[in-house]
Amino acid sequence: MKNLFLLASFVVAVVVLAACSSKMGNTSVAYSKANPLEARVDSVLNLMTLEEKVEQLNQYNGFWEITGPTPKDGQAAKKYEDLKKGLVGSMLNVRGVKDVRALQKIAVEETRLGIPIIFGFDVIHGYKTISPIPLAESASWDMEAIKQSAAMAAEEAAAVGINWTFAPMVDVARDARWGRVMEGAGEDPFLGSKIAVARVQGFQGVDLSATNTILACAKHFAGYGFAEAGRDYNSVDVSESTLQNIIFPPFKAAADAGVRTFMNSFNDLNGIPATGNAYLLRKILKGDWKFDGFVVSDWGSIYEMIAHGYAKDNKQAAEIAINAGSDMDMESNAYVGHLIALVHEGKVKESIVDDAVKRILKVKFELGLFDDPYKYCDENREKETVGKPEFQELVLDMAKKSIVLLKNDGLLLPLKKSGQNIAIIGALANDKTSPLGSWRIAADDNTAISVVEGMTKYGGNQITYAKGADVAVGRTQFVWETKINTTDKSGFSEAIAVAKQADVVVMVLGEHGLQSGEGRSRADIGLPGVQQELLEEIFKVNPNVVLVLNNGRPLAIPWAAENIPSIVEAWQLGTQSGNAIAQVLYGDYNPSGKLPMTFPRSVGQVPIYYNYKNTGRPIMNEPESVFWSHYIDEKNTPLYPFGYGLSYSKFEYSDLKLSSSSFVENGKIEVSVNVKNTSGLTGKEVVQMYIRDLICTMTRQVQELKGFELIELQPNETKKVTFIIDRKTIEFFTANQKWEAEPGDFNVFIGGSSQKTLEADFRYLN
Ligand code: NOJ
Repeated sequence: MKNLFLLASFVVAVVVLAACSSKMGNTSVAYSKANPLEARVDSVLNLMTLEEKVEQLNQYNGFWEITGPTPKDGQAAKKYEDLKKGLVGSMLNVRGVKDVRALQKIAVEETRLGIPIIFGFDVIHGYKTISPIPLAESASWDMEAIKQSAAMAAEEAAAVGINWTFAPMVDVARDARWGRVMEGAGEDPFLGSKIAVARVQGFQGVDLSATNTILACAKHFAGYGFAEAGRDYNSVDVSESTLQNIIFPPFKAAADAGVRTFMNSFNDLNGIPATGNAYLLRKILKGDWKFDGFVVSDWGSIYEMIAHGYAKDNKQAAEIAINAGSDMDMESNAYVGHLIALVHEGKVKESIVDDAVKRILKVKFELGLFDDPYKYCDENREKETVGKPEFQELVLDMAKKSIVLLKNDGLLLPLKKSGQNIAIIGALANDKTSPLGSWRIAADDNTAISVVEGMTKYGGNQITYAKGADVAVGRTQFVWETKINTTDKSGFSEAIAVAKQADVVVMVLGEHGLQSGEGRSRADIGLPGVQQELLEEIFKVNPNVVLVLNNGRPLAIPWAAENIPSIVEAWQLGTQSGNAIAQVLYGDYNPSGKLPMTFPRSVGQVPIYYNYKNTGRPIMNEPESVFWSHYIDEKNTPLYPFGYGLSYSKFEYSDLKLSSSSFVENGKIEVSVNVKNTSGLTGKEVVQMYIRDLICTMTRQVQELKGFELIELQPNETKKVTFIIDRKTIEFFTANQKWEAEPGDFNVFIGGSSQKTLEADFRYLN
């Protein structure tokens, strides 16, 4: 088999070489690995006609799945013809070795230059084996685990022929109404930057040309997470300070970590669509950050500049996008349709096209596609890799680490492993599809472990299940088939009867996995349908309720927070969901997750986030007065703050010490704290450091996360945790329009959440 493959590769190389050399002369520079990358890229570029260059900038959807509105002129027959003419640089949504090989074969063997195609796919939290949704993984604050999870996804995806994922989404998001918060790392630029790096490193590995790594893509550049009112695709209007200090950092971190591609965002940003935004793409990304990979548009986002009212037709949209720095056109047919004419008319310089082509070719070389276009097309590897048992272990581990214990007042948890009568209630408890979450295109329905299955497997209790109420949603991934809410309460009486008999009731409530994700914003972020009513009815007959939440966004659940004794945030945890939840409920695993996003009391507080600004009228001495920044019908404080999460262990913070009370330009302060596990149970804690810059030339946040460490402590063990504060820690994008540190006074806070416990002061002298 191996020999066959080698022979096939050899034949391909010969065909490619022959095709090129017969028509274009010597291509040995391109095809010799010994030559420098730039020379290889140039040697291909020099062979290309303008038409062939433009083709490289074109990305077509495959023939089957769509992840956006169906394009007008992207019909299958035309695509096939275009493919044969070499009119495609990349394809998305093609998967499986058989299909990838067939299409690659056309590109390599039937086109004049035989330039291989890059195959992209939304591998967002796993390919077939599904990890927790990215927001859930972020709750682990465990960078190594997140990196492993991305590496697993890359290995599985690469085995089916994919060589590029449209992930990670690194959009900072403060608005729980926005459905895509499930896909990101939450609200904080510092945590978001660390996670961006972990995911890029996981997907891309140390060697992009290996067969188990794939290209990553930092998206959506930029501002997409700030869609007005949390409505997907909506306009974004933010200050330069918010852009630089809050939105850009995870993108910059991804670029610094070597991410090879970026994706535009759909939104207009301060009046200019991101896809046609030269400030974002030429000035910031390719200029200031020296990004030398390529930028792909989002699905149809070049064409959408017409609807934005920024281009009169697809041709002008193409002109704006390419000049602004968007290198590849995903499904607008704008470049392939109009770029040649635009160059001939002098509206687009050929050098601009050349630059875009070179970026794409370079990445193709880095992937090793010129050396072996079929390197991702090994049927045996596909068979051996997809759904490997080791992957199940990995996603189970990640799922457990992603769970956040929100409340455990009566110490109902952990549950006894036997001798109890446990009622499990809620449609999501028995659902084997919803835990896969949104963005799991390749995973099969009904492949997740349900809570009922997990609870049965890990304990010897008597388990009785009742659905109670439905969480009605569309059952397909791309079409919204049914209404979000249901009013059907016919299952209540059975659930109440079951609850009455039980020692403990485990209620699994929340959102279906397809109630978040792209195009799934919600105006109401409570429990959908009649689930709230069900919860209250059950609580009346049996107050020993453990509420397990399944959701892709923070939910507003003030009644539950007030009344239900134990609440476990279990997001959508992927393939191993039920096993992970059961292990936590039974105490086989001690939870350690911390919220990456603030939970509001009500939707009216949204956007709500921990790093807000003080205002001129903060709550100070006169909370009873009218004239301060507040609501007359709601508290200012969140239900659960950023960074918050409990454990079955208890931790005590003490001895906050600073090595010095001030530092200068090249100096630093060491901040140390003792953390003690005061319980009899080994547990993990995320120790968090925040700072506040007190007086600045611009108003600043009341606190900013600047360090964290995940530690494990044995019973009664104390560990000293040390953080460093230096100039980098306190730098921000100032009123001078640059990153700098302003001298002055600061607070430093340390604790187990953004409601930290210990505080000290320091000064930066310069
Ligand atoms: C649109 C989404 O915004 C983007 O994130 C995704 O990668 C593309 N569609 C491709 O599916």
